[in-house]
Amino acid sequence: MNETVGSRSTGDRGPARFAVPDHTRAPIAGSSTKASVMTGVSSGADWLARYSSSLMGVFGTPQRVLVRGAGALVWDADGKEYLDLLGGIAVNALGHAHPFVTSVIASQLATLGHVSNFFTSPTQIALAEKLLALTNAPAGSKVFFANSGTEANEAAFKLARRNSSDKRTKIIALEGAFHGRTMGALALTAKEAYRAPFEPLPGGVVHIPFGDIEALRAAVDESTAAVFLEPIQGEAGVRPLGVEYLRAAREATTAAGALLVLDEVQTGIGRTGKWLASEDAGIVPDAVTLAKGLGGGFPVGALITFGEPTSSLLTAGQHGTTFGGNPVATAAALATLHAIENQGVLENVLSVGAHLRAGLSDVDAVTEVRGEGLLIGFDLDADIAPAMVTAALDAGFIINSPGPRTIRLAPPLILTTEQADRFLDALPGIIKAAAAQKAKDAQ
Ligand SMILES: Cc1ncc(COP(=O)(O)O)c(C=O)c1O
Repeated sequence: MNETVGSRSTGDRGPARFAVPDHTRAPIAGSSTKASVMTGVSSGADWLARYSSSLMGVFGTPQRVLVRGAGALVWDADGKEYLDLLGGIAVNALGHAHPFVTSVIASQLATLGHVSNFFTSPTQIALAEKLLALTNAPAGSKVFFANSGTEANEAAFKLARRNSSDKRTKIIALEGAFHGRTMGALALTAKEAYRAPFEPLPGGVVHIPFGDIEALRAAVDESTAAVFLEPIQGEAGVRPLGVEYLRAAREATTAAGALLVLDEVQTGIGRTGKWLASEDAGIVPDAVTLAKGLGGGFPVGALITFGEPTSSLLTAGQHGTTFGGNPVATAAALATLHAIENQGVLENVLSVGAHLRAGLSDVDAVTEVRGEGLLIGFDLDADIAPAMVTAALDAGFIINSPGPRTIRLAPPLILTTEQADRFLDALPGIIKAAAAQKAKDAQ
């Protein structure tokens, strides 16, 4: 039996013409709409036992089972609170459960959750327009939506293969580069341990020394399809490339007819206090890839191509995705951008970032502090970074160690000065605990 919806409104188009079937409204077991109705509730230890017998081991053993978040705070299954200074690795731009983003996502999902790419939707179009405006993209620029950073780079890789009719295949990336884990993006990624088990990778990628302008000029030639650069290498320990390098890359690629692709998956969307980390270089790249912070925690990635003819290199049928540009993902991204613009977030990133970096420089065991805004890397005077991650968790902080003596912070962009101070106050104790643990392990 069907329930007739009669005059129920369907947006601004008037009453629905078709009935909504009853079964979509039937009560479902449990009175709560929380996912715990389906997952059950366990202690952290029990969850991890269930994890290890049901999930593939590619991530090793998770550090904690997180069940709830609010702003820059998260709680684990045992009720312990943490200040999240990693933000899902630069993803939770507005922290956890941001009320505006959450309500826009919920409302879009309740209106139109998914359409195939045979169709489009207002949020997809408005997000593309917004990204072109925020990146000062010239006329003729276009956007392709994906679901992740690696997929955005995969699309950029295919774009590069379409650059020129003379079948250029050489692509230049940097030592230390991380561009993702799918086969094309993995070919761009430098780390041997990630690449070796999966060879042969798509060919033609050459890795040149990081930050060496002469090596870049020598490498870029008429056989080069594209140069891929991260303005700040995040996975390599937060290593800024610098504006001079970016300008030299623009010059060399323009002269050779190669594309300059900037991977701003980690550095984009306000992470450095600017929409793009590359803004200071004053260059117009051929393409930029985005993901991570773009959806404020909802999976969405994007490839932006700047101007013609780059924006026409991929033609109908040459690339695609089922979920990319989905109405909910694009609504999440629109809401994230709107909140960043209207809640003083970029200013907050600059001031709290500067405060945090200054405080870190004053810590005895810290030998170097790098980064911009709220993408921060700092080095220690000993190989204690992994032990610090554990000690920080015990002390109620989530941090990350991309190297044996390097810590990376990529907290929500709404982190307050008080929260930054809480970490700075705890840091000497965390370092001491890590050094003690390291000494104990060595015995
Ligand atoms: C610069 C950069 N590019 C690409 C990626 C891959 O993104 P994803 O993990 O969403 O596939 C990452 C992830 O860390 C990244 O930092």
